[in-house]
Amino acid sequence: MSQKRTALVTGASRGIGRAAAKALTEAGHRVVAAARDEEKLKSLVDEGGAAAWVKLDLASAESIKAAFAEAGAVDILVNNAGITKDGLAMRMKREDWETVLATNLTGAFLCIQEVLRGMMKQQWGRIINIASVVGESGNPGQANYVASKAGLIGLTKTLAQELGSRNITVNAVTPGFIETDMTAVLKDEIKQKMLAGIPLGRFGKPEDVAAAVRYLASEEAGYVTGCVLRVNGGMYM
Ligand code: NAI
Repeated sequence: MSQKRTALVTGASRGIGRAAAKALTEAGHRVVAAARDEEKLKSLVDEGGAAAWVKLDLASAESIKAAFAEAGAVDILVNNAGITKDGLAMRMKREDWETVLATNLTGAFLCIQEVLRGMMKQQWGRIINIASVVGESGNPGQANYVASKAGLIGLTKTLAQELGSRNITVNAVTPGFIETDMTAVLKDEIKQKMLAGIPLGRFGKPEDVAAAVRYLASEEAGYVTGCVLRVNGGMYM
């Protein structure tokens, strides 16, 4: 049995984050689930999917500071929380651009800053950023979201280089189309079109992504860093 670590998962109230919290708990880690929705976080802890929860709003630097102070030392950070505010670039409101970048990219960066000192001191750490297939491929109508996810991939590679000598690995997971609240809003017609482009012939489940997170967080993944792990059924290679 590998060593028990403390993992903090952002956006753990539902979808991929909730599945990742459960997978890391099953792997024997102490999981702190972080998000805005207290009730959903409490229910996750009640189900045994996490050991503790903290309230976290990524759009607020103060909230991030307070959440990490409450969580204590973190060995494994999963930057999962993310939002979309789609629209064509020509008509995109600056507010929609900024909100998405602030949550998906700046929020993740500030969370990383909160855990770095501790990880560097103990010479062990795992940082896992949930980006997206579109961060590599681009996607019309998602300039803000794609920029944030491509930014996360660049951040991942840079930090892998900065932190490698401290035995801290930094990796990105890029999910394809995963069945969660985020994709439930898409029209059937769009879903069918996307399905046609997926060699494995099905949409992904949150558990498919959670398995990749569990691997990257493990002791066994100690020689994997700066990697972009595609969990997309083959829709982008
Ligand atoms: P979701 O919408 O079901 O869950 C998003 C989570 O982020 C929720 O727990 C939500 O409360 C949290 N969150 C949003 N804004 C927040 C904020 N300001 N502060 C704290 N928490 C906040 O989405 P899903 O599908 O589970 O997505 C998880 C991650 O995976 C996101 O980063 C998303 O961009 C990414 N992703 C999802 C894909 C999909 O097909 N569902 C595909 C590729 C990437």
